[in-house]
Amino acid sequence: MHVLHAVFAVAFVLKETEAWGYKNGILHNSIWLEQAAGVYHRESRKGRYQLTYREAKAVCGFEGGALATHRQLDAARIIGFHVCAAGWLDKGRVGYPIVKPGTNCGFGKVGVIDYGYRLNKSERWDAYCYNLEAKECGGVHTDQQKVFTSPGFPDNYQDEQTCNWHIRVRYGQRIRLHFLEFDIEDDTSCLSDYLEIFDSYDDISGFVGRYCGDELPEDIISTGNVMTLKFLSDSSVTAGGFQLQYIAMNSSLTIPADP
Ligand SMILES: *[C@@H]1O[C@H](CO)[C@@H](O)[C@H](O)[C@H]1NC(C)=O
Ligand SMILES: *[C@@H]1O[C@H](CO)[C@@H](O)[C@H](O)[C@H]1NC(C)=O
Repeated sequence: MHVLHAVFAVAFVLKETEAWGYKNGILHNSIWLEQAAGVYHRESRKGRYQLTYREAKAVCGFEGGALATHRQLDAARIIGFHVCAAGWLDKGRVGYPIVKPGTNCGFGKVGVIDYGYRLNKSERWDAYCYNLEAKECGGVHTDQQKVFTSPGFPDNYQDEQTCNWHIRVRYGQRIRLHFLEFDIEDDTSCLSDYLEIFDSYDDISGFVGRYCGDELPEDIISTGNVMTLKFLSDSSVTAGGFQLQYIAMNSSLTIPADP
C-alpha cells in the first residue's frame, strides 16, 4: 500500500494556480486532457515543433482523425481548451487556442492566435487534431468506481499510442487505484512504453511514478479528488497492457479492504 503524504492531511484543495502549469515551456490547463469537443493537441515524440504539415496530418490520421479546422479549434477554446503551442490546422493554417490572457503567450490576447495559412509547408509546428471517436484512448472518469484498461486490452496495445485518463471524484473524496493486470514492455528506465501516474489535475505536478514491466504496482491513494494517468507506447514491441480499478474513498481515514 502506497499512501501519499500523511493520512491525516486535510483534503487537498485545487486552486486555480494549481490547475495551470508550465511543461516544456508550454502553459497548459488540464482541459487539454479532455479532448475538448473532439480537439486535442499533439506534439512529436521528439518534442515541441517538430512536425511538418504532412507529418502533422499523418499523426492525426494515424489516430483515426484529421487536422482540426480553425472553427473546431475555436469551439474547443470556448469551452476551455488552452494550449500555448502553435500547431498545424486543416489546410495548412497554424494557430493555438488561448483562454487565459498571459504576457508570455498569445500576446496578451484571448482567442485562436492565428499564424495564417503557411506558404512553406515544411515549417515545423505541433498539431491540433479533431477526432470525436478518439475517446477510446483515454478519457475522463467521474464515476464513484470503475474498471478501465489500456486500449484493446486484453489484446496487445498498439504502437505509438498516447492516452491520458483523468479521474475526478467528488470534492473531499480521495481515489484509490488498484491494479488488476499489468504488462507493459519492460526496459530498465521504462523509456519505451510506460504508464505514468500523477497525483494532480494535470501531468505536470504531483508525479507519483512511471511504471512498466509485468509486476503489479501497489495500490496508490491520492491526496485529493483528482488523478491523471498517462500511457505512452513507442513504435516497436507491445505487450498485453493493463487493467485497473479505482474507487472513490469517502474520508481520508478509512481505507476499504481489497475488492
Ligand atoms: C521552409 O521551412 C524550412 C523549415 O523551417 C526551411 O528549412 C526552408 O528553408 C523553408 N523554405 C523556404 C523556401 O523558405
Ligand atoms: C460516501 O458518502 C456518500 C454520501 O455521504 C454515500 O452515499 C456513499 O455511500 C459513501 N461511500 C462509501 C464507499 O462509503
